[in-house]
Amino acid sequence: MKKIVTGSLLAAIGLSVACIAQAQVKPDTLVKQRQSAMTLIGKYWGPLGGMATGKAPYNAEVVARNAGYLDALGKMPWDGFDASTKEVKSAALPAVFTDTAKFKEASDRMQAEVAKLVSVSKGGDENAVKAQLAAVGKSCGGCHETFREKR
Ligand code: HEC
Repeated sequence: MKKIVTGSLLAAIGLSVACIAQAQVKPDTLVKQRQSAMTLIGKYWGPLGGMATGKAPYNAEVVARNAGYLDALGKMPWDGFDASTKEVKSAALPAVFTDTAKFKEASDRMQAEVAKLVSVSKGGDENAVKAQLAAVGKSCGGCHETFREKR
């Protein structure tokens, strides 16, 4: 009995600590984390972007590997665009926090295009893969156009 009570008490404490930790992530930290995710997205997109435009030789293995990385990374930045980060200096334009529906739509589109790339890249049809690379690139640029500072 005592064991059970202690166990659930500890579970309850653990749970509330987890909630507090979540609520207390500093806005600065959220910005750093979302930028880190975007930086890695940029890293694994880079070679693929080159292949899409013909600037780099096509390499099916690299496409398949990076598509898998992008599939996971592409889910990571979004909770970092929390309203609490509005005042933190970053390249995110104010529209991120005012036009949240459109921002979410753009992030959903990118994730959908990357998911499609994952499956197309397993098929071995170079032209289909290149067309899908272009679609992914467009989904990055479409969001940056509206929601990221020009540089
Ligand atoms: C839904 C909108 C959206 C989509 C889709 C998107 N990005 Fe971004 N990206 C942003 C915003 C906003 C920033 C600025 C973030 C900041 O400064 O906090 C950014 C920043 C970046 C950065 C700079 C990171 C840094 O801080 O140095 C890179 C690189 C980048 N994105 C690459 C990509 C690539 C590649 C894709 C597509 C595979 C992509 N992004 C898709 C909105 C988006």
